[in-house]
Amino acid sequence: MQHLRNIVILTGAGISAESGIDTFRSEGGLWEQHRVEDVATPEAFARDPDLVLRFYDMRRAAIQTKQPNPAHVALARLDREWPKRAGGEVLIVTQNVDDLHERGGALNVLHMHGEHLNAWCTACDARHRWTGPLIQRPPCPSCEEPALRPDIVWFGEMPYRMDDIYAALSEADLFVSIGTSGAVYPAGGLVRRARDLGAQTLELNLERSKGSAWFHETRLGPASEIVPAWVDELLGA
Ligand code: OAD
Repeated sequence: MQHLRNIVILTGAGISAESGIDTFRSEGGLWEQHRVEDVATPEAFARDPDLVLRFYDMRRAAIQTKQPNPAHVALARLDREWPKRAGGEVLIVTQNVDDLHERGGALNVLHMHGEHLNAWCTACDARHRWTGPLIQRPPCPSCEEPALRPDIVWFGEMPYRMDDIYAALSEADLFVSIGTSGAVYPAGGLVRRARDLGAQTLELNLERSKGSAWFHETRLGPASEIVPAWVDELLGA
């Protein structure tokens, strides 16, 4: 195998499942309890903003009661130690809108689907750290307009920082996908792009994902077990 330097890691809801945050597509998952069209599109927000704001207010409050699990902590350790060990870089690209990677200690995290703990002003485009509710239409701290919305990428909107993600993939020796079904694009297509660009590809998941055939290797199991084991292996513990 080529010398391993740069690693891009894509994470999804499965890495936070053992912290007690529902995934989207499992039995009883979030998209079985709520219709995407009711709460996760710009059209839904235009039609019934109270319903959408209430949904995200509840989710924003809930994630603040959850804690990082051993998978988040292991990735944070890799993020900190890998540059010293291998001279390369680790980028964690997450589809998750929780802050458990950061609270686990990770430094290089890119939230391609936005963040629960941010509010985005549709009047002046400012983003603000936001831990409380939005339902009462608080004024934007920058422009004072009551125009804040959750800083979440809804269906039909463009994920954030795709250029940075593709640039990191073009430098990656290893692409690792953790706890994601691969059902949502463009995230689900990153493995193909990584592979086309010459990276090794590894999937760590509870079950085979939609794009499983694109991975050179698949390891199945709960993230809290298989992610720390893989990080130990990589760091030579
Ligand atoms: P999904 O709910 O689609 O998939 C979660 C994946 O995690 C599944 O493949 C599960 O098998 C796996 N999984 C569950 N528990 C696990 C565990 N303990 N350890 C390891 N793996 C486990 O979630 P995502 O792929 O993240 O987008 O969904 C992608 C996007 O769809 C989300 O970012 C969200 C959603 O609509 C937006 O909201 C924009």
